[in-house]
Amino acid sequence: MNKRRITAEITAIGGYVPEDRLTNEDLEKLVETSDKWITERTGIKERRILRDPLLATSDMAAFAVKKLLEDSRLPAEEVDCLILATSTPDQLLAPAASLVCEKAGLNNAWGFDLNAACSGFLYALSMGASLIESERYKKVIVIGADQMSAIVNYSDRNTCILFGDGAGAVLLEPSTAGIGVIDNLFKTDGKGVACLSVPAGGSLEPASTETLAAGRNYVQQDGRTVFKAAIKGMSDACLEIMERNNLTNQDVDWIIPHQANLRIINAVGNRLNFPLEKVKVNIQRYGNTTAATIPLCLWDFQDDFTAGDNILLTAFGAGFTWGSTYLKWGTLRHHNL
Ligand code: COA
Repeated sequence: MNKRRITAEITAIGGYVPEDRLTNEDLEKLVETSDKWITERTGIKERRILRDPLLATSDMAAFAVKKLLEDSRLPAEEVDCLILATSTPDQLLAPAASLVCEKAGLNNAWGFDLNAACSGFLYALSMGASLIESERYKKVIVIGADQMSAIVNYSDRNTCILFGDGAGAVLLEPSTAGIGVIDNLFKTDGKGVACLSVPAGGSLEPASTETLAAGRNYVQQDGRTVFKAAIKGMSDACLEIMERNNLTNQDVDWIIPHQANLRIINAVGNRLNFPLEKVKVNIQRYGNTTAATIPLCLWDFQDDFTAGDNILLTAFGAGFTWGSTYLKWGTLRHHNL
């Protein structure tokens, strides 16, 4: 008899967003903009900002992990591995994942950071799923967390209206019931670096008084080019993954797109011919939290999903990096408690 394929099921979720809100009205006092312009052009009403100078990305990630462990009543020492997708680690060296393991008490876990910008959570989810499928690990936590407020210039109206801070975490465990991460499709195009990056502060242009004065330690982007590439990248990736898994848009119960701009999300939904009720959106409350948008959607909307639901996750980000993941929903641990 054939051995059943092992897949990686999401069995617990945790999330964290800081208490402090930065509303469109607050931004009107910082730059020349308006609530009307931001709402119409992006769909964003407010973002959460981590203001405590003693806290950073690893703290938000650790809060999300602690919530996950608490809700699922999973002892921290049972976790084998932690993968943290982030573009805003606490420090350039060492990995923020080490700090998360320490702060969340994951004493038996090894961990590492993964940087694929806004696609980071999906890339990390596929790495975590591979570790489970290898049958060497039984409990892997995958996190998307970013403190975008640390790299955003609050005098640049082209970028400061878009981003917020937050973290979301999922637990992966083995399934033999065909539940969990079924397929992934990823792409990378390095030509995109010219359109979206933080140019300085890395090895090419180490931070200096000159780079700081020129604002090169902050996010810079060609918004219009990124906008078009994001719509095409996410919708093409969804169509390709649906085709190779023999899924029609009737078979897909939910689509969870990266939350960068409501107009991008709606354009992707329209291209795929999905009714908007199937497309999950929380951008109005958090803005673009980079690697955290998709796990924060899973966290916010978890009660809407039922076992067996077909869910498409799709992301696009700096790099360019993009892709899609086909997920079959299972049962969260806390539903069995
Ligand atoms: N408030 C008011 N006006 C603004 C503004 C703001 N916050 N930001 C830009 N504008 C102005 C521009 O200066 C421009 O004025 P001009 O015509 O006089 O030059 C005008 O609004 C239109 O600018 P444009 O860049 O064409 O707007 P847009 O419709 O493309 O929206 C973004 C801009 C950034 C919201 C949009 O391009 C976008 O979301 N891009 C993708 C960004 C993204 O997702 N990045 C992360 C990748 S995951």
